[in-house]
Amino acid sequence: MSESDKEGKEVGRRNFMKMTIVGIGGLITAAFGIPAVAYVMGPALKQSVGEWIQLGSVTKVETGIPTLFKTVIQTQTGWITTDEEFSVYVLTEDGQNYVAMSNVCTHLGCRVRWVADQNGFFCPCHNGAFAKDGTVTGGPPPRPLDRFESKVENDILFVKRG
Ligand code: FES
Repeated sequence: MSESDKEGKEVGRRNFMKMTIVGIGGLITAAFGIPAVAYVMGPALKQSVGEWIQLGSVTKVETGIPTLFKTVIQTQTGWITTDEEFSVYVLTEDGQNYVAMSNVCTHLGCRVRWVADQNGFFCPCHNGAFAKDGTVTGGPPPRPLDRFESKVENDILFVKRG
């Protein structure tokens, strides 16, 4: 075996060792690094927004009258988890299709309430008024009540916060 053949084999072995060490180093880095990044970033990315929220039995909703559903949901902001009361008015005119509306006034965020005598929603903060479908009928609110996507499964109402 010539001197250059020996040198070529030696270089090949060195390259193989380098590649093996780099490969093992990469695997170790991935094994520790990926879970560590997931641990650090996970809570910051986790939110309840976009999940279906169970409201209750659809039989509670009277035809033509907005019905208030209240539930408590957990929201996570960064590493802080808080319980938040979540209220939704649900309206149906035919017992088949349901409209889920926020009870938060679109002016400055006060809670609206259904006033049956006036057949509309009323906001006590600045006398905002909304029709039963959530459209603005008076006062300063700039837009209708926000709506949520809704669905009914086995007679249970669900809404999704956007
Ligand atoms: S917050 Fe509702 S009218 Fe101002």
